[in-house]
Amino acid sequence: MPSITVTTRQGDPTQTVADTRVVGLFEGEALAEERLQALVESGEAKGKLEKVAVTHEEAPGGALRRVIVAGLGKRDELSAEKARTAAAGVAERAGALGARSLSWAVPEFDGVAAGLVEGTLLKLYKFDRYKSKSEDDEDSPPEVESLELVSERIPEGIDLQGEAERARIVTTAQNAARDLQNTPANVATPTFLADRARELAEEHESLTLETFDREGIRSLGMGAFSSVAQGTYEEPQLIVLRYAGAAGGGSHLGFVGKAVTFDTGGISIKPAAKMQEMKFDMSGGAAVLEAMGAIATLAVPVQITAVVPSTENMPSGRSVKPGDIVTAMNGKTIEVNNTDAEGRLLLADALAYAVDQGCERIVDLATLTGAIIVALGATHAGLFSNDDDWYGEVEGACSTTGEIGWRLPLHPEYFELTKGKYADLTNASEQRKAMSIYAAEFLRQFVDDRPWVHVDIAGVAWGMTRKYVGNGASGWGVRMLVELAQKAGSKR
Ligand code: BES
Ligand code: MN
Ligand code: ZN
Repeated sequence: MPSITVTTRQGDPTQTVADTRVVGLFEGEALAEERLQALVESGEAKGKLEKVAVTHEEAPGGALRRVIVAGLGKRDELSAEKARTAAAGVAERAGALGARSLSWAVPEFDGVAAGLVEGTLLKLYKFDRYKSKSEDDEDSPPEVESLELVSERIPEGIDLQGEAERARIVTTAQNAARDLQNTPANVATPTFLADRARELAEEHESLTLETFDREGIRSLGMGAFSSVAQGTYEEPQLIVLRYAGAAGGGSHLGFVGKAVTFDTGGISIKPAAKMQEMKFDMSGGAAVLEAMGAIATLAVPVQITAVVPSTENMPSGRSVKPGDIVTAMNGKTIEVNNTDAEGRLLLADALAYAVDQGCERIVDLATLTGAIIVALGATHAGLFSNDDDWYGEVEGACSTTGEIGWRLPLHPEYFELTKGKYADLTNASEQRKAMSIYAAEFLRQFVDDRPWVHVDIAGVAWGMTRKYVGNGASGWGVRMLVELAQKAGSKR
């Protein structure tokens, strides 16, 4: 997808060269421009969030220019999240009308400008590289190429340009994660993800890449990860991307992302219906990799080791079988009683590796359990933690970015479910109870009591109902991880 230019300007919003200008309207308020206020009075333009009205005016030079009046809700309730939603509604309508350039008059300054950039760029995201283009395709209007944020008066202490640029960088990374998610599993293999990580490392001096192939993973003692990978011809990869920001204190963070490029379930095979969605089972890894790119671009002063275990989960003559016992990197033995509970197997080794690498605070993102969709739907990710402070930071980053999460408990009684009959642990309990929590308790056995938050993104990685991401791949986690890194970096 060609990238959209984002600029900012201090000055008169009506003096824009854009073909479409956008004026926000608050509920119960009037618009300063008489012509537009007439639309409000006639009831055509409404202040309710997501309402959009379109009119035209003569631009300098005589050309016709589009004006969109966008409802923003109540002024004192405007937030970055509402700005994302409003901007998405505008982007959708403007795009359908063939707009190529948008100019938004910034209505408020409390993170709203960033929200406008995010909502616009996320909504305009498309994944159509596998569709043939026909020359006379009337269904595809020209694409929006630029977004301007303009304000007559920028309050002191507000860096509008900086805020817009940061939002552009982070959103571009999020859209890149969506590209990785959407790319079919015959292309987006573990090697493909490793190549993408290599590209990022070549782009940024602060990023260094190390990868381990099948033999390397085995040599590290990762018996759990290896057991998932043994069933596929596709070379697995342990992708380790290290970010060294400007020196200083602050703890060494570990970002871990599940990247099963296709999850058939293995010998415990999944039903055929919707199995194609399992190309998205690498969403955690995609978010982690692209967030690292954005963090490097923003030169956040922090140290991060990203660990992305990647493989297919396939049934074959050499697949791991129910009942097989494997040994993870930290020496714990695991009965693999359901080969479809593969995520926790590769994460077990990846988490142990992050601990081994000296990560002091760890967060993992994984499309881990179907049960989290039952519990939380496609609105909140599931959060699980062994440390209230670190949890507070992750939850804070979730709330700030709109990638929201909800905490579920851990408890020794749940841990009982993870005990194996013939080995230390089992990856699938026979009881259909608290399946998402049970998975988290399993992962907890591999973090060596380091502060850790597990984020189950099975419900939000795709199929969200949030206006600005639509219901396809969401890139969930990129904004949250960048925010988390920036907060951790500014704390020392
Ligand atoms: N990748 C799936 C989880 C998943 C399911 C994500 C549906 C998104 C939509 C994971 O590997 C899995 O298969 N989990 C099993 C675990 C079970 C076998 C203990 C599940 O949740 O059903
Ligand atoms: Mn599975
Ligand atoms: Zn899976």
